[in-house]
Amino acid sequence: MSEEIFTDILIIGSGVAGLRAAVEIGEKYNVIVATKDLPTESSTEYAQGGVAVALSDEDEIGIHFEDTIKAGDGLCNEEAVKILVSEGPERIIELIQWGAEFDKEGSRLAFSIEAAHSRRRILHAHGDSTGREIEKVLINKVSILPKVIKASFTMAVDLIVDEGRCLGALLLRGKEIIKCFAKATILATGGAGQVYARTTNPRVITGDGMAMAFRAGAYLKDMEFVQFHPTALYSSGVPAFLLSEAMRGEGGILRNISGEPFMKNYHPMGELASRDIVSRAIISEMVKTGSTHVYLDMTHLEGDFLKRRFPTIYSTCLNYNFDITKQWIPVSPAAHFIMGGVETDINCRTNIEGLFAAGEVACTGVHGANRLASNSLLEGLVYGYRAAKSAIQYIEDFKNTDFKREIVLKKDFDFIAPSEIKEMTQKLKQTMWEKVGVIRCGESLTIAQSVITPLYEKLMRLFLGDPLAIELKNMVTVGLLITTAALQRKNSVGAHYRTDYKEKLPNWSSHIRLKKSDKNNIEISTQ
Ligand code: FAD
Ligand code: SIN
Repeated sequence: MSEEIFTDILIIGSGVAGLRAAVEIGEKYNVIVATKDLPTESSTEYAQGGVAVALSDEDEIGIHFEDTIKAGDGLCNEEAVKILVSEGPERIIELIQWGAEFDKEGSRLAFSIEAAHSRRRILHAHGDSTGREIEKVLINKVSILPKVIKASFTMAVDLIVDEGRCLGALLLRGKEIIKCFAKATILATGGAGQVYARTTNPRVITGDGMAMAFRAGAYLKDMEFVQFHPTALYSSGVPAFLLSEAMRGEGGILRNISGEPFMKNYHPMGELASRDIVSRAIISEMVKTGSTHVYLDMTHLEGDFLKRRFPTIYSTCLNYNFDITKQWIPVSPAAHFIMGGVETDINCRTNIEGLFAAGEVACTGVHGANRLASNSLLEGLVYGYRAAKSAIQYIEDFKNTDFKREIVLKKDFDFIAPSEIKEMTQKLKQTMWEKVGVIRCGESLTIAQSVITPLYEKLMRLFLGDPLAIELKNMVTVGLLITTAALQRKNSVGAHYRTDYKEKLPNWSSHIRLKKSDKNNIEISTQ
């Protein structure tokens, strides 16, 4: 018999969104924060550039709103954006009161600039370790709340849903499944970068929350919109380590393999054009010159300044034998962020009662077709807080305290050999990178669909107990959802670029929603 546990609210994930929600709930209600690795292991921990917020003298909430809407290329939910930019300052000020130390110039906060921002509005910490600072402050805050239980190395496998209501999740701890019953559940599992062979995302970011929500009957929205970061380190045998956009914000120049700057040939904003434009320009230069990468050149800037402003990037690159103060750094694009996710309203409610989602796993529509740089840490703070408020309201209205259900699980897990898991994982990631990447077309997407569908059909039937196999099943599911939506969207908008439909054609402004049918097929609808 597997163990059964009960709590008021279950939060899955311990990045900025999950932790911010826990802070709000933990004063009053019992909450379990289940996270599949160390508490800090998340995209949040590795966030470099900073957090966008309209707090500088030269900025206004309305200008941050306009920049976000423009980056979203016509597909943002304006109400969700208004909430982000107007509630953002309060969330940041309270974070500072809790001890967050953002960099300063003299006694005033220092704001930097990144692509597609019309004002300097990016707060950063320790130069390029903004996420680590936010994560640290939130973990400290959560640690003093006695009603919060942090369950590390505890992986959510599936949601428990009964008659359209979410009642918690099955958690895997070691080799044991725990039935965790909760009056409300908040998904905060982050994005899905690991679906791609080349990504800036940490190993834990395998789209689990999106796949679990899909299996449970939730709507997923805007899944075709994947943001590729233009400048990840490119070198054989080395991970796609992020070279922050803030480096271009400080004057970094992109050069092709022959040493020529090229961005002005593609956009008047040059290196600070939006990410999709810069990523496509880089691919275009790589194709033209037959190379695997371009260069990011910082060498015209003062060495001491670079070491001070980008200490983590400087030392990490040096570990890989690249000195950013003296050498041009080889870079190429990598999967970085997903604008789509589990569809929610502005109060983080999904279509499943009792299930809420916040942060990168969710799609409130705040990013539209393309996220404005540094808006996602802010999203985690603002919508993590809102998810907590909604979940609290829900459990206070929840009259039925008997929320335990009999759940019969298969006696034994299905087995897949580790070599087969590895082979299928590589096949998926390579296919996604080559066929559903920065530039797509009907033919490449159809090939991807034909490769991924048999994997999906095989894995969806299995009850798995090996974390790598569970992650594979989730990545295959999310990979197929991205591919399906990308095939369905026959136009190019924001980060979704198809060579066979280069323009915004009729119906470009509708959203694609995906849902599981009773037979595990993907039902497509538009909104
Ligand atoms: P995450 O921070 O990714 O946290 C997800 C959590 O869920 C993790 O704890 C993970 O272990 C857990 N989890 C996942 N699956 C399960 C499961 N099945 N069971 C239990 N736990 C699970 N954005 C900015 O705004 N500014 C930046 O400067 C910036 N820089 C970035 C740099 C890098 C290298 C990367 C990868 C991203 C960057 N981003 C940046 C994006 C931003 O960091 C993320 O969008 C944001 O941190 C997501 O927060 P989150 O709380 O939604 O998810
Ligand atoms: C970066 O530092 O370039 C990443 C910023 C972001 O993804 O918002």
